[in-house]
Amino acid sequence: MKAAVLREYNAPLEIEEIQIDKPGPYEVLTRTAASGICHSDLHVIEGGIPMPTPCVLGHEPAGIVEAVGSEVTDFKPGDHVIGCLNAWCGKCNYCLTGRPHLCMPPEMLARLDGSSRLTKDGGPIMQFALSSFAEQMLTHERSLVKIRDDMPLDRASLIGCGVTTGIGAALRTAKVEPGAVCAVIGCGGVGLSTLQGCRIAGASRIIAVDTMDWKLELARELGATDVINASNGDPVAQIQELTGGGVDYAFECIGLKPTIQQAVGMAAKGGAAVLVGVLAVTETVEFSAADITLQEKRILGSFMGSNAFRRDMPQYVDYYLDGRLRLDEMISKRIPLEEINPAFDAMKAGEVARSVIVFD
Ligand SMILES: NC(=O)c1ccc[n+]([C@@H]2O[C@H](COP(=O)([O-])OP(=O)(O)OC[C@H]3O[C@@H](n4cnc5c(N)ncnc54)[C@H](O)[C@@H]3O)[C@@H](O)[C@H]2O)c1
Ligand SMILES: [Zn+2]
Ligand SMILES: [Zn+2]
Repeated sequence: MKAAVLREYNAPLEIEEIQIDKPGPYEVLTRTAASGICHSDLHVIEGGIPMPTPCVLGHEPAGIVEAVGSEVTDFKPGDHVIGCLNAWCGKCNYCLTGRPHLCMPPEMLARLDGSSRLTKDGGPIMQFALSSFAEQMLTHERSLVKIRDDMPLDRASLIGCGVTTGIGAALRTAKVEPGAVCAVIGCGGVGLSTLQGCRIAGASRIIAVDTMDWKLELARELGATDVINASNGDPVAQIQELTGGGVDYAFECIGLKPTIQQAVGMAAKGGAAVLVGVLAVTETVEFSAADITLQEKRILGSFMGSNAFRRDMPQYVDYYLDGRLRLDEMISKRIPLEEINPAFDAMKAGEVARSVIVFD
């Protein structure tokens, strides 16, 4: 099958013919219908999230099941599915306390017997959990959820990471209350989903911050009540003035040191900075600890929207089909796999909300 392979950091992905194994007892082979391109894939390419190479990236997919392993009972060929990074074991402390997104069992990334699901000429190719930049995916069954057949698969793919991350940051991590005042810094696929999560939660005010006017217009269309172009002066001062003292929740959806500091600065007394963007693992951020203590601010990390994805993703599909969640506007480009490298360039240039690879 055709796949985009990361062989070297900071180099274009190579479109190659590679081999994919048959499903093991608990594995599912899925024909990839569509895969969104998330900034976290770019972080891996740039070395900010280290992964062994050669590796097939891609973790925002939807597809159709082709074959299942001998012990799989949750899926059958023909099922429409979304894939998620957060496979879970069902018996660890995280799973048993309702936080399966923190489980991450090792068999999700690789088989325990050391054999490789993906190979080229007999040599192993690593998986980034799902490896959806490829015509087919071979995953543990607990990396997938079945969805309604009437959900278009290109839009379903967005739910695999960006949408679940963003809506979940608002609904599950922060638990935004009706009437809350929110700021969302960064209006890419993750930020636009976060602001929709705030809207669905009933926030009274949603202030979108970005450096691109066209993204701010899109943010307004999707539910922002106010917008701030961060290129026109300090966004923290502008938020403080707009709100008279800061917001209840400031979501950082970029992954930059200055904007993480801005999120802490935008939070009102008793408010929270919710860190959704991923900073390179080698970097650190400083804030005033006294401000955190004396103003009782909270800093919340939000990983993959604190999801329980087998419950959340079908619900987000319903939200799309009943009109509460808007996904059509979030797809800026549909591209073939061969155009993946220019799609990363478009992401870096801020030209797209989301590019989605669509397979034939
Ligand atoms: N926490 C998680 O589980 C999780 C899951 C998925 C993605 N992420 C992370 O979320 C972040 C966003 O992902 P994405 O795919 O939406 O990225 P993206 O590149 O599509 O969006 C980033 C947005 O930030 C804007 N921006 C850049 N610099 C800015 C600045 N100084 N001030 C204001 N806006 C600025 C850009 O114009 C763009 O709209 C990434 O760091 C990604 O790795 C985290
Ligand atoms: Zn992602
Ligand atoms: Zn577990």
